[in-house]
Amino acid sequence: MTHDFTFKLLEWFRVNKRALPWRDTKDPYAIWISEIILQQTRIQQGTAYWERFIRRWPDVRMLADASEDEVLRMWQGLGYYSRARNLHQAARQIVDLGHFPDSLEEIKKLKGVGDYTAAAIASFAFNIPAAAVDGNVYRVLARYFGIDTPINNADGKKTFALLAQQLIPENHPDDFNQAMMDFGAVQCTPKSPDCMRCPMMETCDAVRTNRVEALPVKLKNIKIREREFSYFYIRCRMERQVFVAFRRRPAGDIWQGLWEPVLIEELVDMPDYHGTVSMIRKKVKHVLTHQVIFADFYLVEAGSKPQLPKEYIWIRESDIDRYALPRLVEMMVNAIQSS
Ligand code: ADE
Repeated sequence: MTHDFTFKLLEWFRVNKRALPWRDTKDPYAIWISEIILQQTRIQQGTAYWERFIRRWPDVRMLADASEDEVLRMWQGLGYYSRARNLHQAARQIVDLGHFPDSLEEIKKLKGVGDYTAAAIASFAFNIPAAAVDGNVYRVLARYFGIDTPINNADGKKTFALLAQQLIPENHPDDFNQAMMDFGAVQCTPKSPDCMRCPMMETCDAVRTNRVEALPVKLKNIKIREREFSYFYIRCRMERQVFVAFRRRPAGDIWQGLWEPVLIEELVDMPDYHGTVSMIRKKVKHVLTHQVIFADFYLVEAGSKPQLPKEYIWIRESDIDRYALPRLVEMMVNAIQSS
């Protein structure tokens, strides 16, 4: 029996479905790419990247044949670069397997694919009835059913996943998952949801008990780490070409595999240096999910070729566009180029 909630949700979806390009295909490869991009990216920005990505690598074999640097370069600006590295590794997993995995368990074995993404791919590409449970789903279900279990601990996650799995219809799991995404994004939004024009209003527990703003409940316990970066854009002329000192960021920290100028992780006083040092920006605030970075940018015009700290190499300044850079570094490069 279809639950009343599901029935109303699908009714709403028939009228309000968003036209999104990856919804016009059953190709698991194209769907998978869209889900990885959309994990931490807004639809509008994600759509542009998805289209470019699919045009550049129309199938999984072509993606597997690309280099990690090319994939990171394509990803530049989207952030959370481990997504791009995992995507590339998963492409190789799929090629090794010989076909795109077509069961929930097999899809979950792909690098970078968790419960939510696996359920989304399984339902959209293979009509497997697996509920894709994300923040939208927590919010919609917490409100409609009046559930005040916190959503960010193991107990809450299990509660909502079980409920969603009970509600998903066997015959249209793809519509159900898409409808939940759209309903959460368009109608039952985090702030100022449009209850007055909601077809669920009369049966929504949060509306009845005046708890729309209070639900879902989330426990606050995430610590934000503050860091201070001083970047030195060291520029040096050698044989009539201009070089700058960059390194690839190591594993075990943010921005693994991306490139950056010489970094000292503290805010230093204006350094003494053979050459000209100028301050470009001070205390630029850059907010990441679990960290806030305050960065100073310096431009160093080196007189003679300086000894570089190990890991750093000289790259041609005119080649910077070819390297994948974190947003913060991209900002620095732009600031220097326009100064
Ligand atoms: N967010 C994550 N996956 C999505 C999808 N397939 N459509 C719309 N929003 C999404």
